[in-house]
Amino acid sequence: MAGIENKPGALSEKGNDPDLILKKLKAMKGRDVPWADGRVFAYIYDPGPEASALVHQAFDLFLTENGLDPTAFPSALKLETEIISVAAGLLHGDAGVVGNFTSGGTESILLSVKTARDRARALQPEIRQPELVLPETAHAAFFKACQYFDVKPVVTAVDPLSYRAQPNLIRDAINANTILLVASAPSYAHGVIDPITEIGAIAMEHDVLMHVDACMGGMYLPFAGPDIPVFDFRVPGVTQISMDFHKWGYAAKGASSILYRSDELRRYQIFAWSGWTGYSVVNPTVLSTRGAGPMAACWAILNFLGREGYERMVRECQSASRRIQAAIDDIPGLHCLGRSDCNLFSFASDSLNVFRLAEDMRERGWYIQPQFGFGPSPANVHLSVGHGNVAHVDDFMSDLRESALAIADSGPVPDASHLDPGLLDLSPQQLFKELQTITGSDGRQLPERMDQINSLLDGLPHEMRDGLLAEFVNRLYGRP
Ligand SMILES: Cc1ncc(COP(=O)(O)O)c(C=O)c1O
Repeated sequence: MAGIENKPGALSEKGNDPDLILKKLKAMKGRDVPWADGRVFAYIYDPGPEASALVHQAFDLFLTENGLDPTAFPSALKLETEIISVAAGLLHGDAGVVGNFTSGGTESILLSVKTARDRARALQPEIRQPELVLPETAHAAFFKACQYFDVKPVVTAVDPLSYRAQPNLIRDAINANTILLVASAPSYAHGVIDPITEIGAIAMEHDVLMHVDACMGGMYLPFAGPDIPVFDFRVPGVTQISMDFHKWGYAAKGASSILYRSDELRRYQIFAWSGWTGYSVVNPTVLSTRGAGPMAACWAILNFLGREGYERMVRECQSASRRIQAAIDDIPGLHCLGRSDCNLFSFASDSLNVFRLAEDMRERGWYIQPQFGFGPSPANVHLSVGHGNVAHVDDFMSDLRESALAIADSGPVPDASHLDPGLLDLSPQQLFKELQTITGSDGRQLPERMDQINSLLDGLPHEMRDGLLAEFVNRLYGRP
């Protein structure tokens, strides 16, 4: 069997053997985090072998169908409308609630902000610079949407102990240009649900739209029992909700939804264009060609697990999360941040470098996610506890305990306080070059370790950090 020509990135002159191609593809995963062993506490939503096999099969069955044109592929239309009906039901929407299937939480949020902006353009043309009011814990996708659609984000502080949005500050931030309020159920970093009922009342009072970001919570909170505060369409002021299936719905990646209280509101989301020489483009979402694979895989897992299956998984995850949080609070030097409502939470330390802790855990075969300090939230480590992690909680805790002990005496990690203050006046490109010697990375390859780089970035203002990160990614996605 001939080997694939050794020209990375160039198209082979001749075709190659399928077995060899698959072998090469599998080999590419060699440096990935070990998710299949249940040792990864972010990015991964693993429902177990039986459900996964079904998701694969369903995806495969609809690999080629195109959701672009419902007249050609009524199957995709049926999949989408049935999935959205399930979502609306879980979020207690009445028969007027409509929505669309999207490629992810970010697309759902982009659409929601575009819809609010276009509605304001139509109904409030006097608004020249639309504004969106959000707590500092809201997902970065809202800032991305603001950048894309020229909406001004107005950030409000959260409570420094609970990390929940503060309704009075949100009320104070509203003015004649406000088009949308945002709250999370729950926030990613700390897993807390914002006071949705209070913020909903403010939205009603000021007659503005309100988005609840339930990307994380939409397929989790409805199964978590009576202690969960009301966060969905039962709250009168809530007009739109994003809800992902590719997180705690355990669907294949590429599965989220954006729901609106009425089709009158959703109308502003839809793009239609027949003013060119080609086919009429009528897109309810950002994408035009849309693979039906993610829809089929999503439909399959919803029907496979059913309410009972999701309730069982949420019970397991809630209980594993409580055990891990109690154990973390017991480890000298570590403490959990706020009081998470669910299976997402984070912990910080007054004495240890948490980035080094994350790196040490990585060497022990675990992935836990470093998060920079921002606002009242110090540098910390985030965990998302899913079905795939539950069986490994004891091993994880014992390694985390050992790791915290091991790094306790390992000396300080150089951080931004070691930088010459003059460096901070440089452009991101210049600063990146200056930092190469400290970080040991020219950005063209993935660094071996991240703790030193993270410690450095953590001490910088976020705008400078963002400039450096963008510079890094601009280099990283170079030619092989
Ligand atoms: C609360 C919240 N909103 C939005 C998103 C963005 O979702 P995606 O990564 O699917 O675009 C995430 C992702 O983790 C999230 O946690």
